[in-house]
Amino acid sequence: MKILICDPVDSSVKEHFEAEDSFQIIETFELKELEQQIVDADFLIIRSGTTVTRELMEMGENLIGVVRAGVGLDNVDLTAAEELGVKVKNTPEASTNAVAELVVAHILAAYRDIPRADEQLKQGNWIKKQLSGNEIMGKLVGIVGYGRIGQRTAEILQGFGAETIAYDALLDDADIKSRGASPCSLDELISRSDIISLHVPLTPETKNLISTAELTAMKDSCLLVNCSRGGIIDEAALTKALEESTIAAACLDSYSEEPPGQIPLVESPKTITTPHLGATTEEAQARIASLIIAKIEEMADGV
Ligand code: MLT
Repeated sequence: MKILICDPVDSSVKEHFEAEDSFQIIETFELKELEQQIVDADFLIIRSGTTVTRELMEMGENLIGVVRAGVGLDNVDLTAAEELGVKVKNTPEASTNAVAELVVAHILAAYRDIPRADEQLKQGNWIKKQLSGNEIMGKLVGIVGYGRIGQRTAEILQGFGAETIAYDALLDDADIKSRGASPCSLDELISRSDIISLHVPLTPETKNLISTAELTAMKDSCLLVNCSRGGIIDEAALTKALEESTIAAACLDSYSEEPPGQIPLVESPKTITTPHLGATTEEAQARIASLIIAKIEEMADGV
């Protein structure tokens, strides 16, 4: 069976299938090459970089399944996959802690101005007097989307002494409470939180969930963190809100277009940006690799 690795994943996946006689494994990171290789491929392995369209799946007449190494399925046409009988699997459990830790790293970096302190010191500037920071302890953190990653983020921040409130359109109040946060409406979360962290998938309902009205309702000291999906924040509205000091700062790991290029949001002194690194730890990628192997073998066995 032919497997295409379309985005970089842990090398153990390639090694595993290379050692099996019944599988042929090919790395193909360019769309043109992918369009040629998919013609007789059985499985695709993707991360966030490859978009699996209806057109692409139609080219793969033998295609059995797509494994999304990660959580978000917004880069796969799920309707077309179902209609074409292509199975789609993801590995949601594997990157929970990695993403949650990145959120906390962003918050600490922003609260203590670490990127600026480092950049200045490397240039020989001792700007201690300009660098008074904030502490997480005692802050109210609002988590939008209280699934695995939202919960793990809340758990870590509670360890720092933060209070956590959460909004989730799919969970009732008792569920949120039993998972360790105080439930509240989105409006309340937006207006009360010192730090807001987004943990929802990108769907038609969550696109531009955070736009001008929501940004205006936030505290002017609010720190907004998005390590989920770029399209959830209206980037033009956020750029304006930062320019006008409607909120204090934003930490971003995902963008409506990736890579985003040198857009004002990335260049702003009020943002800390990383290139979609949420799941990019050795530990998470090793867990993801085991799940990719298991999911492909399970699908192959079922043929
Ligand atoms: C995810 O949805 O888990 C991430 O987008 C994974 C990745 O970095 O590809």
